[in-house]
Parts: sequence; structure tokens; C-alpha cells
Amino acid sequence: MSRLPSIYADPALYDLVHAEGTDDEVWLLTHLAQRHGCGIKTALEPACGTGRCLAGLLRRGWRVEGYDVSAAMLAFTRKRLAGWGGRVKLARGEMASYRPARRFGLIFNGLSTFRHLTSEREALAHLRLMAGALEPGGVFLLGLDLSVYGQDEPDEEVWECRRGGRRARHVVMSIPAEPETRRERIINFVTTPRGARETVLESSYDLRSYSAAEISELIKKSSLRIEAAYGYDGKDAILGGPERALWLALKPR
Ligand SMILES: C[S@@+](CC[C@H](N)C(=O)[O-])C[C@H]1O[C@@H](n2cnc3c(N)ncnc32)[C@H](O)[C@@H]1O
Repeated sequence: MSRLPSIYADPALYDLVHAEGTDDEVWLLTHLAQRHGCGIKTALEPACGTGRCLAGLLRRGWRVEGYDVSAAMLAFTRKRLAGWGGRVKLARGEMASYRPARRFGLIFNGLSTFRHLTSEREALAHLRLMAGALEPGGVFLLGLDLSVYGQDEPDEEVWECRRGGRRARHVVMSIPAEPETRRERIINFVTTPRGARETVLESSYDLRSYSAAEISELIKKSSLRIEAAYGYDGKDAILGGPERALWLALKPR
């Protein structure tokens, strides 16, 4: 595993910049679970971060499990979900090796987090472990951004985030991947006011890139198949079509 981006060491800041849209994301997860799953309201989130989605699922009556490699993220999530007792299990774990002790109606891994696994061996190991942790009829929702080599341009997105008394400005830049190296460079700047001054947290890291053909090939090598694809807004999409940020609904073969 490559070194973790420094923004993951500040869970409260990570949570602030990802808070907006979380309710919609949780709604979409439950909607897709209803459409493609087996009706069992148990969910696993690999690399669960601050548990923002797990919290939303708990409020909707689900039992949840999450794991993450970062001790700081887990400590934050434990505190956040402390009131839910036996409905929650949290653990420290690596996507390429964590084997859950039980099965789930829904497994979800979004925000291109799967692309932190920088080798095919690790990525396949994760897919196989998750396939083995699905209830019969359960669904694994994998959310990731795809590359179109030779066409992708460097990109920059800016968000202003505000919650309670806290504010932040989040700038995410990306440098496209080459098919030879399969590395997309992501550079994050999060600026927060601290009294009369501003603090800037810079964090840069590489994610493994996937074209539509590459993710499709990888999934074929696992014991999963692609049942459907959706845009992040939940609209029907086609793998290899114009929509590049996708949720793939994966089912065991
Ligand atoms: C983009 S955040 C996503 C967090 C959460 N899933 C969400 O949607 O907000 C990525 C998370 O992946 C975790 N992570 C990165 N590499 C990992 C790995 N190899 N195994 C487990 N967790 C990992 C980081 O600690 C971080 O919490």
C-alpha cells in the first residue's frame, strides 16, 4: 500500500469537506441495494473513513460494519457511532486482506477508494474477498472514476464547505494517467481559517487508473460480474459510455 494522503490524518476536516451530498449518497446506496440486492439490511463499507455513510445507513435501520487502515479515521468513526451499540462493528483492516467474519446484503466502496490499491494483485484480492462476503443475492456497489487515455485533461475542482461554525475551501487537481504507468496524480489543497490566518493542508497521492476496458477485464478475473452501471447521480449509465464517474452493481457469477 502506498503512503496514506495527509488529509486522512485529519478526519474532522475530511468529514467537513465530504459532508455535503452524503444524504443523497446514502439514499442512492439504499435505492440500488433495493434494486439489485436481496433485501437483507446489513452493509459493509471497506475503507469506511469517517463513517459518514455508515451513520446514514444506521439511521435508516441497517446493521453496519466498516473497516479502515487509518487508526485516526477509525477513532473518529468509533466516537461518531458510539451510540449505536451492537448494530455497528468497526475494525482496522486493509482492503487487500480484510476478510469479514460474516456476510452482507450490501457492500459498497465509493469515491474511487478502491483505486488506492495500486497493483492488480491487491485489487483482485479485494474483489474476491468482497465477493465471498456477500449474502446470496447480495450486491457489491463499486464507485469509481474512469480514465480515457489520451483524451483526459488536467482538471481542477473547487468546493466551498461549511458546517456549524467551520468553513473550508477544497481544491482537487488531477493529472491524467498514462496507460503505461496507470497512475493518476491527485493533489488536494484544503484551506481553513484559523483566527486571522489561514491554514493550508496539501496532500498528494496516486490512484491506479482504469479505463472502461481495464475495469471490465479486472472484474472478469474476479468471481464477480457487472449487473448494471449508474452515474453518481443514480441515472442509468453504460460502462464505456460518456459518463465517467460510475457506480457498478457487481454480483457473484
Ligand atoms: C476517500 S476516503 C473514503 C472514505 C469513505 N469510504 C467515504 O466515502 O467517505 C478513503 C479512505 O480509504 C482508506 N484507505 C486507503 N487505503 C486503504 C487500504 N489499502 N485499506 C483500507 N483502507 C484504506 C483511508 O484511510 C480513507 O479513510
